[in-house]
Amino acid sequence: MDIRTVSTTPFSDQKPGTSGLRKSVTVFQKPHYLENFVQSIFDSLEGCQGQTLVLGGDGRYYNRQAIQTILKMAAANGIGRILVGRGGILSTPAASCIIRKYKAFGGIILSASHNPGGPDGDFGIKYNITNGGPAPEKVTEAIYARSKVIDSYKIADVADINLDKLSVSRIGEMGVEVIDPVEPYARLMESLFDFDRIRELIKGDSFSLCMDSLHAVTGPYAKNILEQRLGAPGGTVQNGEPLEDFGGGHPDPNLVYAHDLVEVMFADNAPDFGAASDGDGDRNMILGNKFFVTPSDSLAVLTANAHLVPGYKDGLSGVARSMPTSAAVDRVAAKLGIDCYETPTGWKFFGNLLDADKATLCGEESFGTGSNHVREKDGLWAVLFWLNILAVKGESVEDIVRNHWQTYGRNFYSRHDYEEVAKEPATELMERLRSSVGEMKGKKFGAYEVDYADDFSYTDPIDGSVSSKQGIRIGFTDGSRIVFRLSGTGTKGATLRVYLESYEPDASKHSVETQAALKPLIDLAEEIAQIRKFTEREEPTVIT
Ligand code: G1P
Ligand code: ZN
Repeated sequence: MDIRTVSTTPFSDQKPGTSGLRKSVTVFQKPHYLENFVQSIFDSLEGCQGQTLVLGGDGRYYNRQAIQTILKMAAANGIGRILVGRGGILSTPAASCIIRKYKAFGGIILSASHNPGGPDGDFGIKYNITNGGPAPEKVTEAIYARSKVIDSYKIADVADINLDKLSVSRIGEMGVEVIDPVEPYARLMESLFDFDRIRELIKGDSFSLCMDSLHAVTGPYAKNILEQRLGAPGGTVQNGEPLEDFGGGHPDPNLVYAHDLVEVMFADNAPDFGAASDGDGDRNMILGNKFFVTPSDSLAVLTANAHLVPGYKDGLSGVARSMPTSAAVDRVAAKLGIDCYETPTGWKFFGNLLDADKATLCGEESFGTGSNHVREKDGLWAVLFWLNILAVKGESVEDIVRNHWQTYGRNFYSRHDYEEVAKEPATELMERLRSSVGEMKGKKFGAYEVDYADDFSYTDPIDGSVSSKQGIRIGFTDGSRIVFRLSGTGTKGATLRVYLESYEPDASKHSVETQAALKPLIDLAEEIAQIRKFTEREEPTVIT
């Protein structure tokens, strides 16, 4: 095998964000751009020589080319073996599952998650460590530091590998195994959930379901698990063929982008259960018949009902949620007598808690839910968890959520996103808030009095690492809260996220429409942050 050492110069913008390095496809197509980052990964990983790595992606445009490049670079860098998903496909949770199952050294996942794909869309790459989870900041910092000084990379001069057939082959000394991307994941799901009971539910006349894979990676997974293993009728999975550009759609499971599913679930004769997942399969949206479950409520409901599910029947060690996620799960944790951790945005912060068995379930308001079964959030896992609960309880999705509110009170919750606004004024908005939070405590805004205000900082209880500047939070004495952050995954300009939450214990007020219930807080957010002025937008791009 001939190994070429190619001279290169550093790019200054290869700093991984909330979830890996994410850029437009055209940026990744610049000569040496992908190679520099991949070499920076290999250079930063101590002891990766001779080890096994897992490789795959969400099937978006540039996935196949990137995989061929990475295979050749891995061989040139002395990696021992690569397990790659057939067709270059691995959903993010499946990649995590396979890293853990094969005790691999780590994995490289190619995805820009919920960002649009295609030649004009986005691409992304991230490194996951031995526990199957996203690399912690000290690893991503090291990769970034390396990317700033890199002057060459190594690549083997060999032919492309055929990714479409299961096979075992070699590139030089390195073994390459093209593996079934679905089977190990589906088996893990079978070990956690009561498939017999879910099969019974689906078989009965009184239950129907619809899953929308948004032409993204969960298509083959959902068809295999829901239609083949659980007996749902063919066609239950809609938009189930993964496409390189996701059919031109935005593969983000929310009420705006998953419009096909929303149409089905809010029509007359809607099915009883609906779900969607994102580009790389780690997000989920859960719907009942004409009913939307917020991700924050979903986490709380799963926690409250986990004892009904075989994989969790022995109890939960604790739960964790990201800071902007509503406190609905906190109330369940308090009742169960278990700890509830509040972490910064991004799944990587859950890794240590899961490894140390301090948390069993985790969730984020951004349609992410998961558990200690892997080290990523997991869209289909959440779907199966819900189906298992529905099968045991025999109630509708809406009844389960309403009864939950009756027991715990309702946390009204919404996120307002101002996407792709100008970066400088958005940064200024955040700076202004940051400099004013110190004096906010005790301040009154109409009926609201500030209980606390800060820029969230997190000290990891396991390794003591500190992550600061994680979002401005302003809490009021009545338990309501406004949070401001800038997105760490956007690729154009800046995206301002405003998170709004209020708490209503009185069940007679639980049917108020969410935006109406939050209206006073929405107005207050404008008053405090002057969002219109700094974003030059009259209203948010997306409300979830
Ligand atoms: C967003 C979500 C965050 C999630 C991440 C990756 O990050 O808000 O919860 O972990 O995508 O899916 P953000 O763009 O807000 O930095
Ligand atoms: Zn994702």
